[in-house]
Amino acid sequence: MEVRIFNSADEIATACADIFSELLVTKPECVLGLATGASPVKTYTELIKRCKNGEISFSKVKTFNLDEYCDLPRDDKNSYYTFMHENLFNSVDIKEENVNILDGNAADAEKEAKEFDEKIENAGGIDIQLLGIGTNGHIGFNEPADSFSDGTFKVKLTDSTIKSNSIYFDDDSMPRYALTMGINSIMKAKKIVLIATGESKADAIKATIDGEVTPQVPASVLKNHPDAILLIDKAAAKLL
Ligand code: PGA
Repeated sequence: MEVRIFNSADEIATACADIFSELLVTKPECVLGLATGASPVKTYTELIKRCKNGEISFSKVKTFNLDEYCDLPRDDKNSYYTFMHENLFNSVDIKEENVNILDGNAADAEKEAKEFDEKIENAGGIDIQLLGIGTNGHIGFNEPADSFSDGTFKVKLTDSTIKSNSIYFDDDSMPRYALTMGINSIMKAKKIVLIATGESKADAIKATIDGEVTPQVPASVLKNHPDAILLIDKAAAKLL
């Protein structure tokens, strides 16, 4: 696992966009694993700029998103479907049929999860998976647990995740369940890039980098990946 420390979130966005741009140029029909949350927003803004400049194109790209809330309409302002369209897809030349986001309202969640993993497999696997990290060390919505999860599955969100993400929701309306790629789905990606900024991530980053590999700190599994890169700012790195 490679760790790169930066002065600012802007520098991280440039570095992350560089990693994605290189792939998009050398393999225009690549498969991207994408993430939501605050962490990737600046990277998406930079990728939009480069796409508008003609430096990169998403016209042949397939994307798979890490996770989606359950029991939230797809067009809700807080759905990850809406997030991805507002922060990236609506502003680049991607084809809608190449966008894959889990249906958190599927009647049969298990079937939805299985088909999602099969679609990734059939697309040839994910070339680069982008990740954020939760204050509790989660990746995707893989919360601290007694064992590492396998493929995509339905998960009950922990209190810490509900606390972190409920700032985006009115009242107490944040969903309690989500569909998420499992740890094994994530680890199958050929390359993984994790972004962490701010002091609130310092404990999780310390445990990920300096601690043992344990499902209690899901991101720690990245130490077992042959090509995982952590892009973190000085605040997130302050306990290292
Ligand atoms: P954030 O969330 O990017 O909004 O900090 C990351 C996560 O919870 O995985």
